[in-house]
Amino acid sequence: MNKSIQQKGAHVTTRRLLDMKQNGEKISMLTAYDYTMARILDRAGVDVLLVGDSASNVFSGHSTTLPITIEEMIYHAKAVVRGVHAESGRAMVVTDMPFMSYQLSGEEALRNAGKIMKEHECDAVKLEGGRVIADTVKRITDVGIPVMGHLGLMPQSIYKYGSYRVRAQEEREAEQLLEDAKILEQAGAFAIVLEKIPSALAAQVTKSLTIPTIGIGAGVACDGQVLVINDILGLNREFHPRFVRQYADLNTVIEQAAKQYVGDVRKGDFPSVDESY
Ligand code: KIV
Repeated sequence: MNKSIQQKGAHVTTRRLLDMKQNGEKISMLTAYDYTMARILDRAGVDVLLVGDSASNVFSGHSTTLPITIEEMIYHAKAVVRGVHAESGRAMVVTDMPFMSYQLSGEEALRNAGKIMKEHECDAVKLEGGRVIADTVKRITDVGIPVMGHLGLMPQSIYKYGSYRVRAQEEREAEQLLEDAKILEQAGAFAIVLEKIPSALAAQVTKSLTIPTIGIGAGVACDGQVLVINDILGLNREFHPRFVRQYADLNTVIEQAAKQYVGDVRKGDFPSVDESY
């Protein structure tokens, strides 16, 4: 947490998220990848901004989250932190550790988590996985870096699953997920994202943990909700999964605005005298 944020007072911390769970206050989280959007979202009162590795999809146009690098994540995260600082400084900023930045060894994971924290002063990192990464989560949290977990559909494992379908519908996988959530809590995670799992299971996990759960396609019982900003703004015309609520149609708004601009330029209507020096 940056000093200017501390002075502003109301910065959302891991402690605050825990209190929110205990008080039954829902946590709002959205992804952000750039300075301008981070400013708007902080102003809107979003509790947590996730610099998601979904930037690989929605920002860079890759078909999965796997290609994004730690340097690219840091680039996005720096811009988001700057945006939050430029506004109220209230939102917590969590940065995804990208594919293969934490899986090789605990030591490398710690080095990369430290690099993320040092280079842009975000509040926490997020890792995908359960028991397999428990030692790594412990190692990172032990040195004082807060870790958010991520269970259910883990997009970095998409080639293992072979599809983006709902996870943990069968009893064995559901039991494993519940166990993984408890293991992550034990390892020191301060919150866990639950992606695309049955609502009843998400409710059970939420009840079993003292740390908050943040759902995406996991029903209303989670302690908070997260969505990808591009999805709620309707920026991607082709992507309409059931778990997304679209609050705007910016795809159309932007296309119309760009068309008007093109028309004005072609007609010689832009710039006007008032818009010239
Ligand atoms: O990268 C991301 O956007 C995420 C959310 C889907 C939770 O991890």
